[in-house]
This record gives sequence, structure tokens and C-alpha cells, in this order.
Amino acid sequence: MVKKLYIKTYGCQMNFADAERLKYIFEKNGWQITDNIDEALAIFAIGCSVRQHAENKIFSFIDGLKNIKKQGRVVGLLGCTANIYKKDILNQHPHINIICGTDYFDLLPEKIESALKGEKIILVEENQNPFVIKTNSKNSIYVDIPITKGCDNFCSYCVVPYARGKLKSRNSVEIINEIKNLSDSGVRHVNLLGQNVNEYGKDLNIKYDFAELLKEISKIDKLLRISFMTSHPKDTTKKILETMAENEKIMKHLHLPVQSGSNRILKLMNRKYSREEYLKIIEYARALIPDISITSDIMVGFPEETEKDFLETYEFVKEIQYDKIYIFKYSKRPFTRAAKLPNSISEKEKQRRHSLILNLQKKISRKISENYINKNVQILVEKINKNGYLEGKSLNNKTVYFSGDKNKIRSIIDVKIEQYSSGSYYAKL
Ligand code: 5AD
Ligand code: SF4
Repeated sequence: MVKKLYIKTYGCQMNFADAERLKYIFEKNGWQITDNIDEALAIFAIGCSVRQHAENKIFSFIDGLKNIKKQGRVVGLLGCTANIYKKDILNQHPHINIICGTDYFDLLPEKIESALKGEKIILVEENQNPFVIKTNSKNSIYVDIPITKGCDNFCSYCVVPYARGKLKSRNSVEIINEIKNLSDSGVRHVNLLGQNVNEYGKDLNIKYDFAELLKEISKIDKLLRISFMTSHPKDTTKKILETMAENEKIMKHLHLPVQSGSNRILKLMNRKYSREEYLKIIEYARALIPDISITSDIMVGFPEETEKDFLETYEFVKEIQYDKIYIFKYSKRPFTRAAKLPNSISEKEKQRRHSLILNLQKKISRKISENYINKNVQILVEKINKNGYLEGKSLNNKTVYFSGDKNKIRSIIDVKIEQYSSGSYYAKL
């Protein structure tokens, strides 16, 4: 009987890319991926530990599986959460059979056999396992391509350097070859992933940087679009922005998390830029690429964030006019430097600051989206949705729906935006 694996994924795009890698590894070893947890022989949760809330969700999922062991199946906790807490996880969750960090997925098909016989499998810490090459088995148009692993920036609030280890850039020839093969099998848009893609190449012993990688990828004939995330302001060079401006395949979207508009807090966060330096990047980007979409992450309630610091962030968000932001309430994380700082802000106060910025951004986003009405944009058509609308993205990463022929899928077409409603644009050919 064919063995079936159920995978539950939490967290960021990197975790979802890891889930795809995991599926690929198991399918290659004769397993089938199932959506039905009841028929699975193995249940894996890929965990996110960036914030406490995310972590609570994984453990509540895992604890909901407590009687699974009795039925002879295995439960695995994988990814960042596994790498951070390692075997200590077993103290409170002894029913887990496998604890596996992101670098060891390749070993799981072999190790799972021992786990099924009752052995505890613990594969953590980092090693130098290669990135797994993707195939386009699903006839996809869009694919996420990890180009770096890990991060050594040590922002003082962030657990990622402890969960994913040091920055490791993938070999550029391997990246290019993978994307060439994917484009031959129908992929038209690749999204380059990394905790800080702008640092690509820093750890390699050759002079080759992110802008050069972008240029090289854009030469792949059949590929139509390239996007990337995340960018760190301290490494967002003029060269990267100029490459974006000059190259028509590179999407005009920059996700550039600022976190705070207060220089005092930015320093405590170890972000290595000031609000003035950040503003200069935005000004330069907008001068070069007037239609650029800029998005950001904002954190409220960092330890010692005073009302004055918060208001500086509030005013900064107003000044920048982001297309979209993700707002997070600071969450204390193990091993981080910020966890040792005094004066933590109350949950109620964090919520107040969160709501204030959320309401501000709602108004800004509405205003920006109204400016798109009647604009002509170019859409890479990705799919037809269940209501019969074609769906695709504009060059600056807005999702647009419109009526049209499904043979347009995989091509770029011109549409005129007519309407905006709850985060989506509706257009006409
Ligand atoms: N608490 C709250 N938000 C966090 N982020 C990272 N670490 C924390 C934390 N400890 C947010 C940052 C980052 C995004 C991916 O998650 O804003 O940019
Ligand atoms: Fe975390 Fe900072 Fe690295 Fe981003 S750049 S993953 S916030 S340490």
C-alpha cells in the first residue's frame, strides 16, 4: 500500500518553499502527499517561530495529534521551530517522533522507517546540504526559488539567525540552470527568496552580487517576470534599484521592511540604517521607477518604544505612503538580544499602536488603489479562477481579475483597471 504524508505549513514564504521541497523529496521516494490527515501514515508540521503567536499555533496543532501514536503513525515537527528548541521539545510534547531542521529534509525518507518502528529521530543544527532543485511537475507559471539560506544580521528581535544559521548563497550557475529548466517546462515568473536577498553573494569567494544575478536571470528567453523578497534597507544599493529600473522583466515592487521610524529604536533593533537613509532609498527608487510599489513590515511595542518613538513611526508611515504594510506586535523570542531589554510594553498598548497604524494604512492603501482606476497595466495571466475570471499580476505586483480567453494564460496582455474591491483590482481587456 502506498505510504501517505500529510504536511501542515505555517509562516513565511520560505517555509512554504521548504514544504514544496519536502513534497518533492517524499514523492521521489515513492510517498504520496495527502490532504486527508486521517489516511496519512506520517504527519509533519513545518513550524514558524518568528513570533510567539505562530509558535503557539504549531504546538496546538501538534498537541491535537496526541493519540496519533497509538494508531502506529508518526508525528514530525520540522523547520525553524525544530532547529531552535531541538530535543527540548520532547519535554512538553513527548508524542513527537521526529524533530528535523530545514537542512535535513533529504534524510527523512530513510529515517522515517526507524521512526515508524518507535525510534525518536532528532536531526538539528545546520550543515551544508545543497538546495534541492525543483521540477515543474504541476505545470506552474509561478515558482519560488530560494537563492540564499540563513541570515547573520542579528536584528535584536529576530530568531531567524538561530533557526536558519548563517547566510549561505546558492551557486549562481545552479540557480540559472534551474530557472532555465523551469522556463522550458512552462514557468514564466520566478520569485527569488531569501531572508535578505540583497546580500546574495557576500559569502561566496567570487565578485558576484544580487544585481548581477538579476541581470543574468533576465536573459533567460522564455522567462517573463522576476520578483524577489525580502530586501534589507542597509543592503539596497543604487545598483540594485538601477537594475530594476532598466530591466523590463524585473517587477517594480520592493518589499523593504523599515520596522520603525525612530532612529533610537532602529539602533536598539540593530537595523544599521537611519530613517533618513531609508527615506533616501525610497526617494531614489521612486525617481527611477515612478510606478514602483513599495511595501513594508512595521513593528510596534518593541521594548522601550515610547509614545514619541511610536509617533515617529506613525508619521513615517504617513510620509512614505506605502502600497501595503504588514504590522506586527513585538514578540519576545528566545536567544535574542531584545529579550534581555527592560520596559516591555503592555499587550494593550501594543494593540492600541497596532490599530492606529492599521487604520492609517487603510486610508493610504485606499487612496493609492483609487489612483489606479482607469490606468492601463500589463498583466502576466496566471490562471482562470472558479468564477471564470482570468487572474494575473501587474508589473508592480497588483493582483488583477478580468474576463478573457483562457488561451491567454502564460502571456502578458494589456488591461484597463476599472474597479478596486477588498484588495483586488478588476479590469477590462
Ligand atoms: N516580534 C514581532 N515581529 C517580528 N518580526 C520578526 N521578528 C519579530 C518579533 N520578535 C517581523 C519583522 C519582520 C517580519 C518577517 O516579522 O517585522 O520583518
Ligand atoms: Fe531577522 Fe534581521 Fe535577518 Fe531579517 S535581516 S531575518 S529581521 S535578523
